[in-house]
Amino acid sequence: MSVWLTWRVAMEQALYGENGFYLRERPSGHFRTSVGASPVFAEAVLRRLVAVDDALGNPPVVDLVDVGAGEGELAAGVLAAAPPGLRERLRVTGVDLASRPLSLPAEIRWAHAVPGGIRGLVIANEWLDNVPLDVAEQTADGPRLVLVDPASGAERLGDSPCDADLAWLARWWPMHSPGERAEIGRPRDEAWASVIVRLAAGEAVAVDYAHFLAGRPPYGTLTGYRDGSLVPPVPDGSCDITAHVALDACAAAGERAGRAGARDAGAEANGGAGGVGGVVTTLTTQRRALLDLGVTGTRPPVELAHTDPRGYLQALTRASQEAELIATGGLGDFGWLVQSRL
Ligand SMILES: C[S@@+](CC[C@H](N)C(=O)[O-])C[C@H]1O[C@@H](n2cnc3c(N)ncnc32)[C@H](O)[C@@H]1O
Repeated sequence: MSVWLTWRVAMEQALYGENGFYLRERPSGHFRTSVGASPVFAEAVLRRLVAVDDALGNPPVVDLVDVGAGEGELAAGVLAAAPPGLRERLRVTGVDLASRPLSLPAEIRWAHAVPGGIRGLVIANEWLDNVPLDVAEQTADGPRLVLVDPASGAERLGDSPCDADLAWLARWWPMHSPGERAEIGRPRDEAWASVIVRLAAGEAVAVDYAHFLAGRPPYGTLTGYRDGSLVPPVPDGSCDITAHVALDACAAAGERAGRAGARDAGAEANGGAGGVGGVVTTLTTQRRALLDLGVTGTRPPVELAHTDPRGYLQALTRASQEAELIATGGLGDFGWLVQSRL
């Protein structure tokens, strides 16, 4: 007998419910992210952290919070590469619903929720695309929720989305013709806003598969991954279920949260008179962001092969690792949402 769930509930159970995919599996066994591709990504994040630390005036404690940390590889990589002078002041926290990875260095804290009062850098690589969300389909009578049978992946239409979801669709993902589908990103907006309210000072960066208002995919992006391959998105717990992120909507939610945070902090500091400021937003591509951090993929001069063959090979390997992270049509197309409170 079929059981009909909204996609948000089905994803929640499949990924994070009892024996859910992410509580059971090592993500790197199923797909490759920028973090797992090479140490170059962690080095670039470290450069960003150093800049934030400098902007904060090198405080006695500086945070690095890795949200959706998975196996903790990024947090461990940044800590290992941190220079003396920063390393002793660094407080590194991995945040994931999954339990603490066994091999994680003891200095790294592990939490199931984002801590408050962060001063430093938050990085969330491929987190938001795994935050469960509902799917709507346009009909002649307006949007209807799509229901799914978790065992088979079969779908049918349910009720109209709630008012808040309808408002989100109208603002961020208007559908035009019957049969079009939209992924209702409101839970991702809320997830990201919950990070921004915890950022006391510094910068928060979300890196993900993204799309923007001008070019939403008309039939959505719901996808499954298992053992390194794309599979149909059946929410039975056997595979990752992911959908690209409406990163512009998350940016707007982060700005609202930033303004509210600034108002509250200002009100407290001014005896209720209110505060100013919020967060400053940059929305860009991974290619642009990493080029700005010196990740260029430039190959070594070929003459080096004659004078220092070993050095040449090392530099060539490094160049190809960098090139993968900034490749157009690949990881370079990922969106970077950067929100700073500095
Ligand atoms: C695709 S993996 C990314 C892992 C790692 N950041 C990387 O880039 O390799 C997404 C991770 O986000 C975690 N996650 C999803 N929702 C979460 C939440 N609300 N709080 C903490 N972690 C969450 C999942 O458990 C999973 O480990």
